[in-house]
Amino acid sequence: MTEIAVEATQVPAQLPHVRVAVLGAGKMGGILLQAFLKQNLFAAEQIFGTVAHTERALALSTQWGVEVSTDNLAAAKQADLILLAVKPFQVPDLIEQIRPALNAKKTLISIAASVKTRAIEEASGLDIAVIRAMPNTPSALGAGAAALCKGRFVSAKQMELAERIFETVGRTVVVDEKHMDAVTGLSGSGPAYIYIIIEALAEAGVKVGLPRDVATQLAAQTAFGAAKMVLETGYHPALLKDAVTTPAGCTIDGILELEEGGLRVTLIKAVMRATERAKQLAAG
Ligand SMILES: NC(=O)c1ccc[n+]([C@@H]2O[C@H](COP(=O)([O-])OP(=O)(O)OC[C@H]3O[C@@H](n4cnc5c(N)ncnc54)[C@H](OP(=O)(O)O)[C@@H]3O)[C@@H](O)[C@H]2O)c1
Repeated sequence: MTEIAVEATQVPAQLPHVRVAVLGAGKMGGILLQAFLKQNLFAAEQIFGTVAHTERALALSTQWGVEVSTDNLAAAKQADLILLAVKPFQVPDLIEQIRPALNAKKTLISIAASVKTRAIEEASGLDIAVIRAMPNTPSALGAGAAALCKGRFVSAKQMELAERIFETVGRTVVVDEKHMDAVTGLSGSGPAYIYIIIEALAEAGVKVGLPRDVATQLAAQTAFGAAKMVLETGYHPALLKDAVTTPAGCTIDGILELEEGGLRVTLIKAVMRATERAKQLAAG
């Protein structure tokens, strides 16, 4: 995936007093880290990243201009806010490693699917603030969708800070923790479903004679425009669909094919399956 261009800026960071550790700066952690820099939420000196491999740490340090190491404990010690972005099954080990750096003043934000706030609280052995977040990859372009939920020891101020952080990379909602696996199945995995729909529409454009690049642009912009209509008008999607569907026109013929092909049921089942799988990820 293309990296985000981060330009040097003289403007003070929006959150100049918060130091953040991104433990596991891989795909999602790396996207968030770069987005924080791009949005000027934190200055480079306020961010400490970690990865598993030394050579990758060196390469990322140079590429992003932030301190990236393989030392989770050192990074956690320097940070007020600790983002846990390793794979779900690695979270218990990671907490064990950083335990000496933890105290009740720090905030842990975990983006790991399936791992419960209570499991993190208990592993830390402290009454520590744990916020669970489920972002998605379009956060790279400020167009993410994230849901947050809070553990037992999170203050309103800590939650506000977490919301502010995720709002800079997209739309953010707060949910009860019982909904987090559903969020993972819907918006965490969702970009993949939409890419398939866009790819299929583009393929369809090619089938009816459009050049591929034109078809892909039209398909993607149509998905973007339809999403924008839903979000900005607040109208129910069915109402917006009805408005495009002229009696005896061509759209209703297209819809008939979609219904016959079971697109609706297929998407519902896809989210159900992904939600079920999300429940199991913490176990590895
Ligand atoms: N990908 C998504 O769309 C998405 C969306 C929402 C949430 N998430 C969550 O984000 C988490 C990471 O997923 P991902 O897709 O970003 O995986 P990923 O690309 O494999 O990233 C994991 C990162 O963790 C690093 N790492 C592994 N062991 C480590 C350790 N002991 N200490 C420090 N860093 C370590 C890896 O380092 P190396 O690079 O050196 O191997 C890698 O950079 C998961 O819990 C997932 O549930 C992902």
